[in-house]
Amino acid sequence: MIPVLSLNFAVLLIFWLPVGHFLDTCNVTIHPEAPVVELGGSVNLNCTTTCANYTRLDWEVSVGGGLQKGDGWLSINIANVSEWELQPICVVQRTGFDPLDTNVVIYLYQFSTPDIYLTSNIVANHWEKIVCSIPSLKVRGSSSPSNVSIFLKKGSNILKWERSISVEYSFLAKPQEDGDVILCEAHLQVGSEVLQKSANRTLKIVASPYNVNVSTNFTAYKTGAPLVVKCHAEGKPFPEFSWDLPSQTGVEYSDSNKTITIPSAQIYHNGTYRCLVHNVYGNGSAEVDILYEEASRSWVAVWVTVSLLVLGILVILGIICYYQKGR
Ligand SMILES: *[C@@H]1O[C@H](CO)[C@@H](O)[C@H](O)[C@H]1NC(C)=O
Ligand SMILES: *[C@@H]1O[C@H](CO)[C@@H](O)[C@H](O)[C@H]1NC(C)=O
Repeated sequence: MIPVLSLNFAVLLIFWLPVGHFLDTCNVTIHPEAPVVELGGSVNLNCTTTCANYTRLDWEVSVGGGLQKGDGWLSINIANVSEWELQPICVVQRTGFDPLDTNVVIYLYQFSTPDIYLTSNIVANHWEKIVCSIPSLKVRGSSSPSNVSIFLKKGSNILKWERSISVEYSFLAKPQEDGDVILCEAHLQVGSEVLQKSANRTLKIVASPYNVNVSTNFTAYKTGAPLVVKCHAEGKPFPEFSWDLPSQTGVEYSDSNKTITIPSAQIYHNGTYRCLVHNVYGNGSAEVDILYEEASRSWVAVWVTVSLLVLGILVILGIICYYQKGR
């Protein structure tokens, strides 16, 4: 019973499997094995066979292409690939055998350079947003590719990244970031290849005046003192300077109005010195009080004493002269 069954199986097996399988030792292969092609690009496929006495070697493909052949190989060059499901087959035929074939999946993709969206003039100390997205992305066999990632970078710093076709990054813009370059990098895996496309944009940050301050050589002065008052401010664009002063008399402006000089300060120069700065994005100001100080009592006393002393000497000298002449 048992030997009969095994025999039946053996007979079944022989009839079920193609005869060729027991005798075939040759094969047919395609190179490259998994070509990655951009939509509209071209691909060159080479079919080779180890079968010695084949009668035909052929490509079965729905689009045309330039053929080249040699002993044991047949290549096809398909230009302007635009068929998403393209799957060329290479067939080898021999007398007395079943045809032998193999196919190749062409990983067609469409992957455009990412676009960076960013306000052209970012105002400092405001929340801003950078968006980067890939306008068109399609890969054979997947409607929403999960094999894409997109990075926003500044220098070697990754600001944010997503496993998606777009990434959004919010930040509080700082004036020092003006001129920094933002890089958007998209990575797409197609078949066994990782493709990369990138774009960059330079940050342009504007700022209303900031860090406004005033410095002076004297905060208290006496008549005749030389006053120098300087104003410092930053901003993008660089601000313009003007002053609100106790008196305009004898005031000299220099260094694009950043500095004022009063060569000989008088009592009417006493008061508040206010520096006003502005640019197209705003205003700022800073001030300092410069106070007139009366000559101190001790100095007045010394002056009076010396004057009286000199006067006394002169009077004595006068008297001496008078008596000497009288003799
Ligand atoms: C300089 O300051 C004076 C006085 O505040 C102002 O009238 C003038 O317009 C300023 N000049 C410039 C170039 O800013
Ligand atoms: C100088 O100005 C200040 C205000 O800035 C005022 O309080 C003070 O009385 C003034 N002094 C004189 C001598 O005018």
